[in-house]
Amino acid sequence: MPRILDEFERRTPGSLRLHSKASSLFPNGVTHVGRYLEPYPIYVTQASGARKRDVDGNEYVDYFGGHGALILGHNHPAVIDAVSAQLSLGVHYGASHELEIQWADLIREMVPSAERVRFTVTGTEASMLGIRLARAFQKKAKIIRFAGHFHGWHDHVCFSAGGADGVVDGLVDDVILLPPNDIDGVKHVLAERDDVAAVILEPTGASFGMIPTGGAFLHDLRAATAARKVLLIFDEVISGFRCSSGGAQKHFGVPPDLTVLAKILAGGFPGAAIVGRADILAPLDYTATGPPRVMHQGTYNAEPVSAAAGIATLQQVRDTNALAHANHAAAMIREGCNEAIRRKGVSWVVHGCFSEFHIHPVGTAPPVQKGTVPLSLVHKIRLGMLCHGVDLNGWPGGLCSSVHTDGDVERTVDAFRRTLDWLGEDGAL
Ligand SMILES: Cc1ncc(COP(=O)(O)O)c(C=O)c1O
Repeated sequence: MPRILDEFERRTPGSLRLHSKASSLFPNGVTHVGRYLEPYPIYVTQASGARKRDVDGNEYVDYFGGHGALILGHNHPAVIDAVSAQLSLGVHYGASHELEIQWADLIREMVPSAERVRFTVTGTEASMLGIRLARAFQKKAKIIRFAGHFHGWHDHVCFSAGGADGVVDGLVDDVILLPPNDIDGVKHVLAERDDVAAVILEPTGASFGMIPTGGAFLHDLRAATAARKVLLIFDEVISGFRCSSGGAQKHFGVPPDLTVLAKILAGGFPGAAIVGRADILAPLDYTATGPPRVMHQGTYNAEPVSAAAGIATLQQVRDTNALAHANHAAAMIREGCNEAIRRKGVSWVVHGCFSEFHIHPVGTAPPVQKGTVPLSLVHKIRLGMLCHGVDLNGWPGGLCSSVHTDGDVERTVDAFRRTLDWLGEDGAL
């Protein structure tokens, strides 16, 4: 049996046992496609700081970071204190409360383009509401988005060219899908048609920069959309409160009309928001003559536990060097891994900006489109890293936090070096 698989199975009998049970309950035995791993994922029992531990007692440096929500790491004391205090006061008032005001005030202070805030529970909901608001405001149907950019799993954004099973053709027809970074394509479409309501994108590029987008593209896109009175929606679900305290829009100095926020926004608890121009969010208002023109409900909108976690997290992002620390850790990982790649003499690159790193194992430049890496190789890289005590995100790559230490970085680079050796032994390089 290949060394990586053999070693992984030797270290994780408890995870295998749980996965056998899970396989009869969940599709693929998992509850999120990002957690899918061949032959089975690890089952985690505990997490603290930058580390987590599985049922077999193995400890990992964690780069999932709660799918990007945990910029302060696991169980940050400020977040735990705020949440614990709120739990004893009630978890759901079914009423307005002061924490939602403090939370929204912080967002408005930190995110340059946020005039109004509407809370949802997930980023998917916020992106769906953003698109609905844009169409309602513009009274136009078409949305431009870019291949590979992720905006959640709702019907308007979950398909690549040609549509997807379960998504009706009418919805597919109303989305114009362009290659990533194709400014000429955008200009061409906007010159040819006047039925485009908005352009939506991840401002740092697909999957937080896996296919990087530069500031110049964002400036050009802002100019092109403004010239044609087309709305610009930034999906800052990952980049928000990570690229800078005010997200990518503050870092690059490009103001969108609407912004989708989630993840760090609620400090690891469920919480998201669509924020932006007051006139575009106005159709959510009751009017003298009747109900809102754009409907949006939601049992858990701005529930107070998430609000407490969100406030505590945003304050840390605003008032400490949390982001600089996370950026530094990621830069060290990129540097160390690229050195290991050079020494090994393989055609790979580890790239990224800010607090992320992306491992691109099929070429020496960042990819220009997604899906170029065989899934089997991604699984082998992840398994190899797990065997050496590192849990990578499935891109493969990772998101650093404010509590990743120099020791964590060293362990990660060392794990990467050893994983390269094992991949070589297994004939996978
Ligand atoms: C850029 C981006 N947009 C939207 C979403 C969807 O957010 P959620 O998982 O909270 O629905 C994600 C989730 O990973 C994301 O990364």
